[in-house]
Amino acid sequence: VSSGRPITFTRGVPPADSFPVDEVVECADTILRLDPAVLLQYGKSTGYQPLREWIAQANGRAVDDVLISNGSLQILDFIGTALLSDNDVVFVEAPTYDRAITTFRRHRARVVGIPLQNDGVDIAAFEQALRREVPRLVYIIADFQNPSGATTSATKRRRLVELAQEYDFWIIEDAPYRHLRYYGEPQPTLLSLGPQRVLQLSSFSKQISPGMRLGYVIAPAEIISRLARIAEDTYISPTMPSEGIVYEYCRRGYLERNLPRLLALYRPKLEATLASLRRELPEASFMTPEGGYFVGVNLPIAVSGKELAARAAKVSLVLTDGDGFFPEKPAQAFVRIPFCGITVPEIEEGVARLAQVYRELTK
Ligand SMILES: Cc1ncc(COP(=O)(O)O)c(C=O)c1O
Repeated sequence: VSSGRPITFTRGVPPADSFPVDEVVECADTILRLDPAVLLQYGKSTGYQPLREWIAQANGRAVDDVLISNGSLQILDFIGTALLSDNDVVFVEAPTYDRAITTFRRHRARVVGIPLQNDGVDIAAFEQALRREVPRLVYIIADFQNPSGATTSATKRRRLVELAQEYDFWIIEDAPYRHLRYYGEPQPTLLSLGPQRVLQLSSFSKQISPGMRLGYVIAPAEIISRLARIAEDTYISPTMPSEGIVYEYCRRGYLERNLPRLLALYRPKLEATLASLRRELPEASFMTPEGGYFVGVNLPIAVSGKELAARAAKVSLVLTDGDGFFPEKPAQAFVRIPFCGITVPEIEEGVARLAQVYRELTK
């Protein structure tokens, strides 16, 4: 990688070589010929029925507990419309997915950050915050969190669900990375531990393609019917051809078969990220993700995310404003490294440039 070429540490996108092009084309050809009257028509706002059934069965739930929409972020917005009123409180992990913070705020909620540890939110801090005020929603990315890479332990998952039952709040479990586990054993989903208190969001974006725009939510049926009404008022119908293609893709067992290919593609990139950080930036602290798309890096300097991004731009390293991942400005600089969409040499060069920026700021 030449020193002048920009390296982008901004967006959590898959690389183009991850897309299963031939299989998607094959599935599109089959299903659009088989079911054109449904797939090329306005559809039901709950989604393409065969795909709903497939998702329900894969998760041991009733079909009425599933809604499919144009990406999981869109569903998060519908949840905001359904469940949030002005000044409702939403607890999030700090840091968390920046677009989730934006979405909750757009619904005029007050977003409260609970510090995140290696094994999930700080439960003592969470309980302390609960004693001050009971949130309407708690937003948790339990597996390979965006942006930190943390995975919530089984003990903390159980405690979160107990607290949801005791204090009567909803948990949104956002799980787009759950299947991308490179090491270790899966933990139980929050959904499986508290099916009456959890709305689980999931997505095909990181398993097939984000351009397909397919996400879904599993939740109690009465919530699903509220979301379906909001979806219908918003866009009449979800994008039916995508739903048909993904249904055919799942029905043929391609989803399961594609997964090992993705793991083999991404695991070396995670390893390269961690090795580069240890080599180039021993002063930094970061979690060691067992899967997913991100390594979140804390730098022991008090510069704003904007300032750090401006400094990085001078060495052609493109960073997002790390402060955006926190409801309140963090004390230290935070950098998210989305390692899947770039190559190993780009990761190594990008981390070296980050180290150079850090050295300049601390000398
Ligand atoms: C935690 C999290 N939730 C939701 C999304 C949005 O996914 P989708 O493409 O399904 O809208 C992303 C995408 O990066 C994400 O990281």
